[in-house]
Amino acid sequence: MCGIVGYIGSKEAYPIVLNGLRRLEYRGYDSAGIALFDGAQLHLCKTKGKVNALAEKFAAQGVPQAQIGIGHTRWATHGVPNDVNSHPHTSNSGALILVHNGIIENYAALKTVLQQRGYVFHSDTDTEVLVNLIEEVKKTNNVKLGKAVQLALKEVEGAYAIAVFDQSKPNEIVVAKLGSPLAIGVGTDEFFIASDATPFIEFTNQAIYLEDHEMAVLRLGREARVRDLKKDARLDSAIQELSLNVEQIEKGGYEHFMLKEIYEQPRAILDTFRGRLLPEEGIIKLSGLENHMSRFLNAERILIVACGTSWHAGLVAEYIFEEWARIPVEVEYASEFRYRNPIINKNDVVIAISQSGETADTLAAIKLAKSHGALVYGVCNVAGSSIARETDAGSYTHAGPEIGVASTKAFTTQITILTLIALKLAKEKGSISQSVYQQHLYELQQIPQLIEEALASDATIKKIASEMVMAQHALYLGRGYNFPVALEGALKLKEISYIHAEGYPAAEMKHGPIALIDAQMPVVVVAVNSNHYDKVVSNIEEIKARKGRIIAIVTAGDSVVKGLADHVIEVPKTTEASSPLVTTIPLQLLSYHIAVMLGRNVDQPRNLAKSVTVE
Ligand code: G6P
Repeated sequence: MCGIVGYIGSKEAYPIVLNGLRRLEYRGYDSAGIALFDGAQLHLCKTKGKVNALAEKFAAQGVPQAQIGIGHTRWATHGVPNDVNSHPHTSNSGALILVHNGIIENYAALKTVLQQRGYVFHSDTDTEVLVNLIEEVKKTNNVKLGKAVQLALKEVEGAYAIAVFDQSKPNEIVVAKLGSPLAIGVGTDEFFIASDATPFIEFTNQAIYLEDHEMAVLRLGREARVRDLKKDARLDSAIQELSLNVEQIEKGGYEHFMLKEIYEQPRAILDTFRGRLLPEEGIIKLSGLENHMSRFLNAERILIVACGTSWHAGLVAEYIFEEWARIPVEVEYASEFRYRNPIINKNDVVIAISQSGETADTLAAIKLAKSHGALVYGVCNVAGSSIARETDAGSYTHAGPEIGVASTKAFTTQITILTLIALKLAKEKGSISQSVYQQHLYELQQIPQLIEEALASDATIKKIASEMVMAQHALYLGRGYNFPVALEGALKLKEISYIHAEGYPAAEMKHGPIALIDAQMPVVVVAVNSNHYDKVVSNIEEIKARKGRIIAIVTAGDSVVKGLADHVIEVPKTTEASSPLVTTIPLQLLSYHIAVMLGRNVDQPRNLAKSVTVE
């Protein structure tokens, strides 16, 4: 959580840092702050609230011309979100100024020692402890900033991505990373720093992604000096060329990123397929999987670890893997898995699913699985992310940047790639016939078009939303492959509209949730043509008998459910295994419209963050 940005060079630092923070707001938006040094004096502006509030406050106080600056957008961990606890934080002498993403776990002990040495603290943050620790180390050892950072970090337990500069020597910024991401954009005699590459993409496509236990001194007039803190050795800085472009991270005419991302799904899934799904040749190409095929084929079981929406994608995958590849699958919340002393064998394959590739619990689950000798395969969206680097192999989803906090296209592309993996394994294992395999390849190829058709119901969905908007609670039901879709539909509604919603397997309804049903309770039922269709119809009858309001997602042409439900939303016919890719679309749109009607901040719902880098 939290986003950090920095700039040093000959351009105006303020717009670069400010716009960078706007792009990183998905990482947290409880408070924001920027520090600029104009050659004579430090200008610091911090505020509770979003980056726009910061821009207003800074404009009122007067923005200086400055060629060095750092900024921060915060998701509060230590200390309530107020102006004082906002970053950047300065050291007691005022010389050092620092932004930090992460948590210093031993900050209380360090704070006590520093207080004994006369340091005074103004905020409740762990970050203010860190900047003063660096100052103390610098002073007592009489070393330069880079060395002081290196020595100070030896004392620190926890996670961090930091950027710090010394206003008495404003020709360099020092950065370091452990656990939280940090990218350096390398321009011509200028450096950009950010939690991901989006803040500097219009200025340079040359980036260095720091690894854990690395720091870099970014001094004007020379190359970035990267150091391995564990080995205490200088490293060659590995510059990568970025393929991201500005259009990908802008709203492109949509009112919200979430809406844009919902509509991008046909294109995103085409990108997931690109070069991999080749029906004419009868093949699926996934190099990460091919390199580890025997481990997968000999796996006693597959464990899937993930959080949030990615966990829901894992649940869909469980159905697909077991049905097609006949490999036992267990799906775990990464946060539970990492702490419950799970049984992990060398013959297990662990699939870690994560849009951001930065989720702290998922990362910890991966490390645990690796320490037991399991093969860990990543399904990530963000290239070069911590999870992508930590896993033994993997496949990117290629959904493109997802900015809306509520995940949409990441979910469907995760299911897409997991479907390809399952199908390829099934083919290799011989657990499905060649003709069934070939049939699936052709059917998968239709999915982007079928999602386009599902999106065409938007006007109907908006009307239904205008009725659901008054609800205090909602129930989402589905069976089989569409049970995880019900969970995901309910999560979307909760996240962005703040209406309480629960997802349930339709048949479980009678073991509890049925007691909640009355004329005020909307019940959204995924009732597409499937093996369970008749059973779901019976569930709908049960809801109707209790006067619940039924909103059903049905296969185009359905007449039975149409006769029972208050509203139906049609989706095109697909195979059962692919149905989540289309049934989830109306549920995304339904939440979106309800949230807009309620005046919620759709892209940045309260208390949430897109990338959860704390446990
Ligand atoms: C946060 C986001 C969710 C996401 C979850 C897991 O809660 O708001 O949208 O599903 O983290 O994130 P990941 O990046 O690991 O998929």
